Amino acid sequence: MFHARARPQVDGLSDLRAIASAPGKVILFGEHAVIYGHPAIAATTNQRTVVEVDVVGSKTTVNGHRIHERYHSYLLTAVDRLWEGDPVRLQTEGGVPSASGTGSSSALTVAAVAAIHQLKGDDYIEEIAQDAFEVERVTQGGGSPVDTSASTAGGGIAIAGLDTPPEIGDPLWDIEWEDGGWAVEAVHVPDLTLVVGNSGVKGRTDAEVAKVARAVQKNSLLRDTLNDIGQITRDAVAPLAANDWVAIGSLMDKAHDCMHMLGVNHPAVQKLVDVARAEAGTFGAKITGAGGGGSMVALTEKPEALAASIAAAGGTPYQVKIGGPGVQWHATVEEVLEAA
Ligand code: MEV
Repeated sequence: MFHARARPQVDGLSDLRAIASAPGKVILFGEHAVIYGHPAIAATTNQRTVVEVDVVGSKTTVNGHRIHERYHSYLLTAVDRLWEGDPVRLQTEGGVPSASGTGSSSALTVAAVAAIHQLKGDDYIEEIAQDAFEVERVTQGGGSPVDTSASTAGGGIAIAGLDTPPEIGDPLWDIEWEDGGWAVEAVHVPDLTLVVGNSGVKGRTDAEVAKVARAVQKNSLLRDTLNDIGQITRDAVAPLAANDWVAIGSLMDKAHDCMHMLGVNHPAVQKLVDVARAEAGTFGAKITGAGGGGSMVALTEKPEALAASIAAAGGTPYQVKIGGPGVQWHATVEEVLEAA
């Protein structure tokens, strides 16, 4: 069991505080389709967000400002749903770029939920995964547990609807939701550096999820596109296990085309996908995350060169190592920042 650490009162800090960090993620395959129960594969990145929670004062604050629905929606939902004690002071250090499709909201949510769980004296990882999903889902109004479960578990995960579980890895947990849910498994992901290119256009997960829902309702052919995305995910399992970059890259290209058909591509993201595909050494490139802006991800044998080309094209490149640890607790914020 984890227990909230006691420490002497210094500079107005309370003696009850907890610090947790959680990583961002890249979805390799399965965005959007996973909401409808199709399988997805995601992996953590080496970018991490840290949340420190102190029990202090007369009002709940975030980074010195009174907590507000408009600016701190995930944190407000987490505190409202999970904390019944005195007001808390939340401090965040975000290493995961926001609205980029690389899991900033899930990293923030998982770290906050884990810190609150620690304050309450429990460390049940499955409950953190369930609570983090609920906080994200309630705040966004839609979505699957792919991001929050990847960020909680670390490494790689496969996820699919409970009635058609992925059955390609080791079972981790089930996430319950209304009359359905998802099965989450741990899967091996290769030791890879991927290049993420942020278009700079902020994509909103909630808006893109709602857009796809409307499009699928109107155009039943898009159900086939969701099926195709699920099949691409299943087709990727063997090449991922065999480090078959050529096959993985070509599946990434196919997945991108499906997401384009779903209507979640954006010209600024397509531009970076085109830049990546034109670059020698690129195996494949696709939107990662919800789309509507945000980021693309590419598999390449020349990450430095591709990062430079993405920057030259106006994008912000990140070379991300996939498969890092999931949620963690810490004694100090500095400990996390130094390790990063
Ligand atoms: C967002 O990172 C992935 C989506 O599939 C939404 C979700 O599953 O929650 C677009």
